[in-house]
Amino acid sequence: MKPLFKGKHFITLEDWKKSEIDVLLETAKQLKHDFLHNQPTAYLTNKVAFLMFFEQSTRTRNSMEAGIAQLGGTGIFLDTSKMQIAHGESAKDTAKILSSYGHGIACRNCFWEVGNKYLREMAENASVPIMNLQCDLYHPMQGLADLMTIQEVWPDTRRLKVSIIWAYATTHKKPISVPLTQILLFPRYGMDVTIAYPEGYDLPEWAFQKARQNALENGGSLTITHDQEAAYRDADVVIPKNWGSWVNNPSSDVIDELLERGKTWKCTTQRMALAKPGVKYMHALPADRGNEVEDAVIDGPHSIIYQEAENRLHTAKAVMALTMGDK
Ligand code: CP
Repeated sequence: MKPLFKGKHFITLEDWKKSEIDVLLETAKQLKHDFLHNQPTAYLTNKVAFLMFFEQSTRTRNSMEAGIAQLGGTGIFLDTSKMQIAHGESAKDTAKILSSYGHGIACRNCFWEVGNKYLREMAENASVPIMNLQCDLYHPMQGLADLMTIQEVWPDTRRLKVSIIWAYATTHKKPISVPLTQILLFPRYGMDVTIAYPEGYDLPEWAFQKARQNALENGGSLTITHDQEAAYRDADVVIPKNWGSWVNNPSSDVIDELLERGKTWKCTTQRMALAKPGVKYMHALPADRGNEVEDAVIDGPHSIIYQEAENRLHTAKAVMALTMGDK
């Protein structure tokens, strides 16, 4: 496999043409086939990716580590609290030095108004691709896996009603990067995206504007509502998930009055019954079971969460195989 996008940063899918995303998806599909049929895929022999995490992870860390191993390379997990970053070393110096030791740098930094800037600063200074493992604004690895999963169910995604619905959760104040990535990406594939949330949980206005523009250019649409039932009604895909009120309130406190007012925003079997009979339930995970969603839904016949999570492996491998090449 040729590293067709050698050196290209993967910070947001907005920086990738649709034709390039299609190549990523085709490659992920092939890698999934090869994985399931025990075919060798040593496209990154002797290559090293550094995996920097400022936060916890299950799917992202392990799909990247397993993925690069299956591609014949090595992933080095870096807990940033144990790096000199904790003593103030700059993104520039970190990027330059890790670039000289390996072939790719992947990073999760979700701190509000910090994470994306950190990745951009690394990208300006790295001589290897920077891969975003989730920042305050984007989660392109998740977006790509979500798109792959929807395409596996519906090869033609045009005019599907896909509803991204805020849901109540108390575990931690989650980034906005998953819904933001989804509203930008899905309309590029002709989907009719509805985003529903209680007042106060807005995404940035620039993201809504860009999503509308993406929809206009690709035959999809974006609807914003504060009525969760309207979002469930006749939906083909529902993605009920919590995100924090970062845009209106940068405090990292988890539970506040605004959150408690949103307690009724839960994915229930009753609400699922408003959707189309073949509706699919998706969630990037981890889910706050009992708060965001009833077990009967997440474990029920409409749920495709494990397929979605599995596709994180194949899409991560596609990104690494196509961007990391010989120095
Ligand atoms: N969906 C996702 O990014 O999961 P992790 O936080 O476990 O990596």
